[in-house]
Amino acid sequence: MSTPQKTILRALAGETLPTPPIWMMRQAGRYLPEYRATREQAGDFLSLCYNPDLAAEVTLQPIRRFGFDAAILFADILLVPQALGLDLAFEAGEGPRLSTITTRDDLARLKPVEAIHDTLSPVYETVRILSGALPPETTLIGFAGAPWTVATYMIAGRGTPDQGPAHALKAADRPLFDAILDRLTLATIDYLSRQVQAGAEVVKIFDSWAGSLRGDDFHAYALEPARRITAALKARHPGLPVIAFPRGAGERFAGTHAATGADCIALDDGVAPEWAAAQVQTGGCVQGNLASAHLVSGGPALVEDTRRVVRAFAHGPHIFNLGHGITPDASIDNVHRMIDTVRGA
Ligand code: CP3
Repeated sequence: MSTPQKTILRALAGETLPTPPIWMMRQAGRYLPEYRATREQAGDFLSLCYNPDLAAEVTLQPIRRFGFDAAILFADILLVPQALGLDLAFEAGEGPRLSTITTRDDLARLKPVEAIHDTLSPVYETVRILSGALPPETTLIGFAGAPWTVATYMIAGRGTPDQGPAHALKAADRPLFDAILDRLTLATIDYLSRQVQAGAEVVKIFDSWAGSLRGDDFHAYALEPARRITAALKARHPGLPVIAFPRGAGERFAGTHAATGADCIALDDGVAPEWAAAQVQTGGCVQGNLASAHLVSGGPALVEDTRRVVRAFAHGPHIFNLGHGITPDASIDNVHRMIDTVRGA
């Protein structure tokens, strides 16, 4: 048996490394001039997602510029609802707009899970291109949205500050809500499995709105779908590492490795790294959790907080990352300063 050489895979296997491997959520994005140029060439954001050559190109841009230890497939969590038959558009400056699903008739009109690959096959082609194009030391991460987070956009038709429409449907018609989550869970398993077949070495499940689930709902709709997806993927692809990101979980991050079966829990910046080292990293690898605002504001606080995150997680498996995605107003110089600080230059 050979040990995995790539640093991200070593951390995911539980190894404590002298320097944590590093990548950034939304590392391919609008803060990069080369991303903006390629998006323009594609026409718009969704055309970019469905153009394998250009999607691979923007995935590679931050690797070339910064030498991150992982590349994340360029796509979006809302491609799955589109593949299930909902209309999807991204209005400039306004975020996503979708046709909604709020009734049993809407659910009946969704396409069967087997049909999603008709729409999503360009994504698998992007993964295939990337797995041949990445430097040998760089890990390729595939991803999908978690069922709850994706459902919040499908039920509201847009992003919402409190996920009110999804909570309301859950209260009004729980069997319908459960059926929507079940369809999404099965679609997510098949979607991620195809990404792995195409060459993704790790998958990440983004549950950006897990934090608004209260009481038993957090278990039923954040932890349990992540556990089902993780178990099904590991059964199909033995040894596949999985990263789960129940954003906003707060104290409920404790125990999430065991509850989901994920190899790594991604932490947002709502928890102190010292607390998370004691309460979460004891369960396995953690990823995070520098506040992305530091990449806008920079200065000594960027360096101090970067060092604090590295120090707090130094005694266990850790992948350095932000607590959430890098924002379009972030500065490239600050990204360099963060990387140099992590790598001790
Ligand atoms: O991280 C990466 O570099 C990989 C690509 C990636 C994107 N979206 C590209 C993107 C990933 C992993 C995502 C995940 C995603 N998409 C999430 C979960 C993570 C999170 O941020 O909480 C969510 C909730 C979405 C849905 C989504 N996509 C929204 C709400 C928006 C609009 C907000 C915004 O930032 O503009 C998007 C658009 C989007 N997805 C962009 C990118 C680079 C910006 C679109 C553009 O170029 O105009």
